[in-house]
Amino acid sequence: MRAMRTIEWRDGVVITIDQTRLPNKTLFLKMKKCEEVASAIKEMRMRGAPLIGVAAAYGLALTAYHSKVEKREELMRQIEESAKVLKETRPTAVNLFWAVDRILKKARETFGDAKAVTKVVVDEAQRMADEDVEVNRKIGEHGSKLIDNKDVILTHCNAGSLATVDYGTALGIVRTAWEQGKEIKVIATETRPKLQGARLTAYELKRDGIPVTLITDNMVGYAMSKRLIDKVVVGADRIVRDAVINKIGTYTIAVLAHEHNVPFYVAAPKSTFDSVHTSKDVIIEKRNVEEVTYVGSQRIAPIGVKALNPAFDITPMKYVSAIICETGVLSTTEFEGLVTV
Ligand code: MRU
Repeated sequence: MRAMRTIEWRDGVVITIDQTRLPNKTLFLKMKKCEEVASAIKEMRMRGAPLIGVAAAYGLALTAYHSKVEKREELMRQIEESAKVLKETRPTAVNLFWAVDRILKKARETFGDAKAVTKVVVDEAQRMADEDVEVNRKIGEHGSKLIDNKDVILTHCNAGSLATVDYGTALGIVRTAWEQGKEIKVIATETRPKLQGARLTAYELKRDGIPVTLITDNMVGYAMSKRLIDKVVVGADRIVRDAVINKIGTYTIAVLAHEHNVPFYVAAPKSTFDSVHTSKDVIIEKRNVEEVTYVGSQRIAPIGVKALNPAFDITPMKYVSAIICETGVLSTTEFEGLVTV
């Protein structure tokens, strides 16, 4: 399996692949300012819940690393300001908020001057990046137990290396099962409007030599009714007590899976669990309608037509067969027990 670390810190520079250009071009972004990280998240050059969490942590590390101030209080003010900017980029994936708050807590707890705080912030961001890879490996190990030889697995959007620091959540399970010698196949939905399935999931799996077949989003019902799919494995942007919030189209797939008795699994690290909110509190990001009225640079709808563009949807827990996280496979009841405070 080819390693593909999606984000890296090199002496005060954050390097990542510009995902808006894949699969046709492999361009690297080199960012020295937190504002650049924030823009890259907003423009979805980096995307996927775990990745934007780690990217935000690195964004705060950039602020600290390049700051010229010596007093702790002044640096803290700059870090808090950057935290605010990062938290305004995308509202739905909880990992972003979790990551920013984790760094802020570490920084606030640190005694000493600005230099001491900077070291702690940079180290913590690095630790979070390394942890993410570890966690995905564990999700892969636990989740692969649910995968049988010859299974055909449907996945939606991209919950792979590109959505994380490496390996992936849903695709981490696919990768582990494949590494175990299971002869599996993947069906990837194209994932309109941003085409993460067609552009990113198909790219990653092809690169690893794992058989993948692309379908448009509206072919899922056909594929399930023809028994072409054994299991669904998707990622998540936020799992609240009563629902899973993930890429728009996930809910449709979950309902279809229920109708056709196909297990519907959600793979996500615990940093995606939100025990504080329920689905009615979650802000579903609404993106520019041009993502719907255009495909790439090609307009496909009449000028001035109205369009909707919610980036995520809400799948009630009753459709979820199990949640796979770094500590194991959780039934929805076990999950509820874990997040009920
Ligand atoms: O809008 P995106 O591309 O950031 O949405 C990504 C998803 O919905 C993923 O399924 C989710 O973040 C899990 S990634 C491991």
